[in-house]
Amino acid sequence: MDDLRSKYIDLIAGAASEAALEDLRVQAVGKKGEISLKMRELGKMTPEERQKAGPALNALKDEVNAALAAKKAALADAALEERLAAEWLDVTLPTRPTRQGSIHPVSQVTEEITAIFAELGFAVAEGPQIDSDWYNFDALNMPDHHSARAEMDTFYMARSEGDDRPPHVLRTHTSPVQIRTMEKLGAPIRIIAPGRVYRSDYDMTHTPMFHQVEGLCIDTDISMAHLKWTLEEFAAAFFEVDHIEVRFRASHFPFTEPSAEIDFRCSWEGGTLKLGEGDDWLEAGGSGMVHPKVLQAGGVDPAKYQGFAFGLGIDRLAMLKYGIPDLRAFFESDLRWLKHYGFTSLAQPNLHGGLS
Ligand code: DAH
Repeated sequence: MDDLRSKYIDLIAGAASEAALEDLRVQAVGKKGEISLKMRELGKMTPEERQKAGPALNALKDEVNAALAAKKAALADAALEERLAAEWLDVTLPTRPTRQGSIHPVSQVTEEITAIFAELGFAVAEGPQIDSDWYNFDALNMPDHHSARAEMDTFYMARSEGDDRPPHVLRTHTSPVQIRTMEKLGAPIRIIAPGRVYRSDYDMTHTPMFHQVEGLCIDTDISMAHLKWTLEEFAAAFFEVDHIEVRFRASHFPFTEPSAEIDFRCSWEGGTLKLGEGDDWLEAGGSGMVHPKVLQAGGVDPAKYQGFAFGLGIDRLAMLKYGIPDLRAFFESDLRWLKHYGFTSLAQPNLHGGLS
């Protein structure tokens, strides 16, 4: 018994890994382990022999189990020590001395818009940039012959020869995300959908790719008043002033009824733009009450639900807020321009810490 004890105590002390330790456990006290087999022999002993050997074997088994547990803990401690030493990191080191990159104004403004609408309870939704003409047009109440469809300067994707299905398009606006979100979430809904859109157009104020943010709010008791309030809250927060008056101008969009163009009160006095004061109006985008046919296309019951939608130009909002004169510069990747108009990558826009 003494031999068994010193054999296993030594082996356990020398075990180099948890796996080796497990092998030793099986070898000593496992079902067919050396000590376990000895315990089975107790049955063949005389009562006197058993009275001596039984407690001694039990004590040996306990001792070996305790040694195994202690060694296991010691191995785990050593492993942790080793990891802590290897993964040591000097958190007091200074950051890199020079700013290596910057956040593009479009990204910055998208973050700002998202933060403002998050505060108003709007989630962010997304849709594909290549979409079917059904999502981009038909579902939005713009059938084949509709003039608005022709005015969109659409980029059509090619179909392979002999494939007569209608072509996919580069989405011309973020409005198709309205349909996809209704399909996915049903009503009620409160989302914005920022993203890239494409139109075949290029001059001082148009680029073939630009950015819009769509808004969609659907419930059982939504009116134009909610739309106007939401836009006023957004405008004041975005331009970082106390209040901005919003004016609705009657308009027409196929996907809304009634439809309104959105103007913000502003002044251009002295050549600089001031929002919320003055006698001028800044065109900010389109909006209206979602057309019943659009609700239907998204699988939402127009007899029960109604809602508002709006679409704003993100690039234009960025130009106005940060005094950027030429839209085309946004997409030229000119390093000096990016350095000048870019934002620090460490700032996270939010309403409490400040947007910009
Ligand atoms: N999709 C329109 C466009 O690109 C903008 C727009 C107008 C969106 C009215 C809307 C809306 O959601 O209600 O010109």
